[in-house]
Amino acid sequence: MDSSEDEQQSVYTVLVTGANSGLGFSTCCRLIDEFLHSRPQTQTLQLIITTRSTSKNKDTQARLHQHLQKTLQKADKSTPGISQVLSARVKISGEQVDLCNLRSVKELGNRLVKRGTRLDVLICNAGIGGWKGLNWPAAIWSMLTDWKHSCTYPTYKLGFVGSVSPQGGEKKEEQLGEVFTANVFGHYLLAHAVAPLMKGDETKEPGRIIWISSIEAYAHAFNPEDLQALKSDAAYESSKRLTDLLILTSELPSTKPSTSKFLQEKDDQRKPKMYLAHPGVCATSIADLPLVLWYAMLLAQYIARWLGSPWHPVSSYLGAVSSAWLSLAPFSSLASQENNEGKAKWASSTDVFGNERVVRTEVGGWGWGGRVGEKADGKMRLSANRWRGQEDVTKESREDFEVLGQKVWKEMEELRQSWEKKLDV
Ligand SMILES: NC(=O)c1ccc[n+]([C@@H]2O[C@H](COP(=O)([O-])OP(=O)(O)OC[C@H]3O[C@@H](n4cnc5c(N)ncnc54)[C@H](OP(=O)(O)O)[C@@H]3O)[C@@H](O)[C@H]2O)c1
Repeated sequence: MDSSEDEQQSVYTVLVTGANSGLGFSTCCRLIDEFLHSRPQTQTLQLIITTRSTSKNKDTQARLHQHLQKTLQKADKSTPGISQVLSARVKISGEQVDLCNLRSVKELGNRLVKRGTRLDVLICNAGIGGWKGLNWPAAIWSMLTDWKHSCTYPTYKLGFVGSVSPQGGEKKEEQLGEVFTANVFGHYLLAHAVAPLMKGDETKEPGRIIWISSIEAYAHAFNPEDLQALKSDAAYESSKRLTDLLILTSELPSTKPSTSKFLQEKDDQRKPKMYLAHPGVCATSIADLPLVLWYAMLLAQYIARWLGSPWHPVSSYLGAVSSAWLSLAPFSSLASQENNEGKAKWASSTDVFGNERVVRTEVGGWGWGGRVGEKADGKMRLSANRWRGQEDVTKESREDFEVLGQKVWKEMEELRQSWEKKLDV
């Protein structure tokens, strides 16, 4: 191996979408902290952040550099002088993309592919809620009567119905569901474009595509006849259920005809791996609330944690633990966990004191690893903290999950191909 190859190998490149706020920003902070502590001194982290505007990008880079300085100061206290070595191991650069504008997504994909730099991790974090407000009487009643459950699985959010993002025209065929595009389809197109930069070979592990879901990805929120959730007032929950369906079935033989095209697969062993994570419930700006109500929500979330909810990291830094872990954990350790216990939805969780950990989350029809017969009992207080509508996985529900996964993979691929053609024109 010549020295330039050696140098190339020691750079670990991670791209995070929606990095300017909430979980995206905290994921970047965690990646910096954990990379410096867990990876060998010969490795450098190249962090590529995406935002929707250049000003947000500049500001985010400045805030990340401030965070890096704080981390270095702490390191210097325990090992004087180490900061000089460490600071050279983090490089931050930026890109702009609006995931609701497919042309902008395609342009970003083209820029990255043209540059040809290997991409080790893509974190599909950016997202929107698509909510217009809350049903206040229902919110107050359910909080007072059922605090922990209603803070975790709220039934009082009001979503916009039929919001679209125009792709250059007003005609129906030139529009896409807004939440669907921001949360799933924009990332889907981007991941497809950069997949060739993420392949593994004899010297490199395959790259990792990490999709961010939610604890609110209810099976009933997704209507297979309405992929983009245009007729639904739960477009957010639908987009997250779609994410679960896609990623959890992505390694099954039945979805291979679609996934191999999506990942531009030429050789099975080299394709990037897809992982599914969710941050639990965190206080971020995704719920667009006035300041006073934002603080009320913060307090409500802490109370839910103190009442025993494992799903309330509350702080976005704690919420980022699952995506940072999936980004940096040894590839072999992730592979053995998913091979032994099945493909998982990895969650950020905390105990009442805020001690974090990454745990598997139950998914309707799939369970914790796509295995029939698993029970909630005994799984980390989960029987008491499960969504009340959740049922144990049965042979039939597991089969239905896979059939639906196969269907949505096929539809997503058809949609991608038709939009790629339109964008080429
Ligand atoms: N907070 C939670 O409790 C929670 C729970 C479960 C899952 N999540 C998921 O975590 C992810 C991050 O959410 P968050 O809570 O951190 O929310 P946030 O603070 O509102 O951050 C969302 C990020 O996505 C970006 N974004 C939104 N629409 C975009 C678009 N069309 N193109 C490009 N970027 C776009 C935003 O950029 P702008 O600043 O330009 O709008 C922002 O950087 C989302 O996928 C969300 O569904 C959050």
